[in-house]
Amino acid sequence: MSHRVSTRPFRRDDVPALFELFRGTVHRVNSRDYSPEQVAAWAPPETNPARWETLASRFAVVAEVGGDVAGFADLEPDGHVDRFFVHADHQGRGVGTAMMAAILSEAGRLRVPRLFAEVSITARPFFERHGFDVLAEQQVVVRGVSLTNFRMERHLGTG
Ligand SMILES: CC(C)(COP(=O)(O)OP(=O)(O)OC[C@H]1O[C@@H](n2cnc3c(N)ncnc32)[C@H](O)[C@@H]1OP(=O)(O)O)[C@@H](O)C(=O)NCCC(=O)NCCS
Repeated sequence: MSHRVSTRPFRRDDVPALFELFRGTVHRVNSRDYSPEQVAAWAPPETNPARWETLASRFAVVAEVGGDVAGFADLEPDGHVDRFFVHADHQGRGVGTAMMAAILSEAGRLRVPRLFAEVSITARPFFERHGFDVLAEQQVVVRGVSLTNFRMERHLGTG
């Protein structure tokens, strides 16, 4: 099965690959829904190492397909899903679903009552299929450029 998806914990030496994945996905996938100016502000060529180091200090999952890094996502202890990106070459193959399962499993372990995220226009239908509701549409300013996204949440069973 060439498209088998597996997940594993983040490792510090993943950072360069994850940064490239993030840039590629924003420029090739989110660019369907955002202007060139917006994607350039969202995913500039230079990385902020401190921002990426935060992946080591919380739950972060890396998805692989055939040994290649195919996605990553991270969850803060309060239930905030911070980043959630699937490689542009691995869209629509269940990678996001596998990462969501890992996030839900960790959320259950942490007993967080709800997950919440600021979700792109592109990812909104995926999050809706995974039980999230839109709380509000909002404009965020990134490097001086305004972007639309959605505050979304999913309440988790308390049982
Ligand atoms: C939103 C996103 C994370 C979804 O990831 P994904 O891996 O494409 O999602 P999945 O493949 O798990 O599911 C999406 C759809 O793909 C299709 N799909 C799933 N498995 C499939 C397979 N094996 N073959 C073909 N299609 C498949 C399904 O139609 C699925 O929809 P469904 O849930 O109604 O069945 C991804 O599109 C992405 O990276 N978007 C851009 C980045 C982004 O905006 N991130 C969020 C920032 S806030």
